[in-house]
This record gives sequence, structure tokens and C-alpha cells, in this order.
Amino acid sequence: MVGTPKPPIKIGILGASTIAREAMAPAFKRESRVNVVAIASRSARSAQALAHTLNVSRWGPGFDWILADPDIDAVYISLPPSLNAHWTLKSLQSNKHVLCEKPIALNVNDVARIRACARAVSRVVREVDMWRHHPQIRRLHDLWRRGALGQLRSIEAEFTFNLSEDDRFRWSRSLGGGVLNDLGPYCLGAVLEFCPGILDILEARFSWAGNGPNQVETAMEATLAAAGGITARIFCSFVDTPRQRLVLRGADDSVTLNQPWAVGIDSEQPLPVHLVRGARTERFGEFDPYLMMLGDFAERINGGDLGSFALERCERRVALAAELQLCARRSQGAT
Ligand SMILES: NC(=O)c1ccc[n+]([C@@H]2O[C@H](COP(=O)([O-])OP(=O)(O)OC[C@H]3O[C@@H](n4cnc5c(N)ncnc54)[C@H](OP(=O)(O)O)[C@@H]3O)[C@@H](O)[C@H]2O)c1
Repeated sequence: MVGTPKPPIKIGILGASTIAREAMAPAFKRESRVNVVAIASRSARSAQALAHTLNVSRWGPGFDWILADPDIDAVYISLPPSLNAHWTLKSLQSNKHVLCEKPIALNVNDVARIRACARAVSRVVREVDMWRHHPQIRRLHDLWRRGALGQLRSIEAEFTFNLSEDDRFRWSRSLGGGVLNDLGPYCLGAVLEFCPGILDILEARFSWAGNGPNQVETAMEATLAAAGGITARIFCSFVDTPRQRLVLRGADDSVTLNQPWAVGIDSEQPLPVHLVRGARTERFGEFDPYLMMLGDFAERINGGDLGSFALERCERRVALAAELQLCARRSQGAT
């Protein structure tokens, strides 16, 4: 029996950010199970510009007016990282479902608070993880799960680019900047995905820029050991040529993804996505992982699937980031 279709989920946007404009807006336009009805940003001008793009009639400065509206079912939060946990919690306390940009929180206690609150109010919370929704990651998962690579030996996760000097928050420690918060969610997320057990940090080296409260990490290089003799290497940088790579090496075969994380943001010039397995190359056509993720969010809300596993995953990643930070500071004698 076919059920009655649910009305679109009414969404309010908190933060008219670049990523909201460039990656999420096209997905919001295409996903019929959601309907953006209001846009809030720090400045009215940013909110208005995004409202114009999405053809939304309600926009304005400040965020509380969206949370106070009982007609809005869910929010998409896209703010500097230091604000994400605060507004996720406030949104949950206002009974909204939440899709929040990464990183959803900067410490484990905040992730735990978000989990407890989501459970108490029975609302769905997801951190943006569009990369997991791309078919290349699903394919990699499938190969790994059914043992096509043999015993996993090593994993390498790399994400680098040259950050412009006038970036708004990535150079600011108080706003949650730094490469660990910005690119860590991808590389640490992938390592934890394929090394689910306990990880020991063998080495962690960071580079920093700025001083005191404005000091942020600009690069991070780490080697970890996982159960079963797996070695994981991570490299993230704000001061390097743009590069993305995820490699899984097994006893029988290896797989390399040339563009594992940010796919489809530049829709005018989509880069080809390859999965190289031994001597074979699998190509993936144009695909919008943000749209898939949004569809998944809508499906979970409509199906009442709170799925706390996603927040458990965030908790592990945030804990690992903190350990890496501590380990690098100790070994490099930084304060
Ligand atoms: N999933 C992905 O592919 C992806 C990619 C890039 C970034 N991100 C994440 O998305 C979020 C936004 O990143 P972005 O690069 O798109 O940011 P952005 O363009 O710099 O925009 C940041 C937004 O936050 C607001 N804002 C800035 N400082 C604020 C403050 N002190 N108080 C309140 N609001 C403030 C800005 O408001 P006004 O414009 O109104 O001033 C703007 O709407 C971050 O959490 C980032 O990690 C995700």
C-alpha cells in the first residue's frame, strides 16, 4: 500500500554562508521533500542575498526569530565552527530537527550534550557528511566490507589547499578556525570509518600560524596504529597546493580515490571522480552528494529515525582530534 505523501519539511537556514550558497542552495532547490521558508544570518544583507537565490520571502538578521517560529520544522546551520554546537542545542531546545555543518562541535562534552538533547526531544540531528553519500565511498565501503582488498594494511587520507589570507573564520581560533576543525572531519572521519577499533597515535606534527588566542594550526601530519596491524596516515594543510586523496591498501589489492571529499561544489567545472583499483579505473559521472545527504535527512525525519550512530561517530572523531592536538603540542613543546 502506498502511504500518503508527507508535506515538505519546512526549513530555516541559520547562516547565509558560502557553502550554503554554493553547495546547499542547489540541493535545496532540487529536493522536493524539503522547503526552505526562512533565512537568517548575522547580517540582513547576506540573508537577503541567499533568500533571493532560493526565492524565499522571509529573511532577516539574528537567529532567534527562526527558532521561535513553531511552523518551522528543521534548521540547516552553517556558521563558524565555534557557534555550531550552541545553535544546534538551541534549535533542539526549540524542537527543531537539525542539519549542521561540520564540525558540529569542538569538544566531546558538547557532542554528548547534543546527543542527550536530541534524544530527550526526539529530533533528528545530522552533521553534514555529504562525502559519505557519494557512490565512490559506497563502492569503497562495499569492496572493503566484502574483503576484496584482503586484510587491510594501511590507509592514507589527505586534504590540502591554499587558504586565502582574508578567509573569514579559518584563521581565527576563537571562531573555531584551524585545519583540524576544517579538514580534520574528512580525513579523521575516513580513518575512523575504515579502522573502527582503538587507534594509537604514533606521531602527530602540527604547524601553527599566529600567536596566543589567534594561533591556529595550518597543517597536520599524523601516523596512527589500528588493530590488526593497520597503519593510518593523515595529512591536512591550509598552505599547500589543492589535493585530495584517500588510499586503502590491502594484502591483495589497493584502492585510490582522487577526489574523496569535496565533490560537486564547483558545478560549472566538475572534476572527474575516479576510483583506481589495482590496474583498473572506475569513473563516476556527475553526482550531487549534498542532494543525497539532504534526501537522507528528510527521509530520517519523515521515518522518525533518530539514528544516534551519526553523533557517536562525531564523538569519536572530536575525541581523536583533541588527542592529536595534545600529542602534537607535547611532542613539539608548544604551549
Ligand atoms: N560541507 C562542506 O562541504 C563545507 C565546505 C566549507 C565549509 N563548511 C562548513 O560550513 C560552515 C560555514 O563555512 P563557510 O566557509 O561557508 O563560511 P562563510 O562563508 O565565512 O560564512 C559564515 C557564516 O557565518 C556568519 N558569521 C560569521 N561570523 C559570525 C559571528 N561571529 N556570529 C554570527 N555569525 C557569523 C556569516 O554571517 P554574515 O554573512 O551574515 O556576516 C556567514 O553567514 C563552517 O562550519 C564550515 O566548516 C562545510
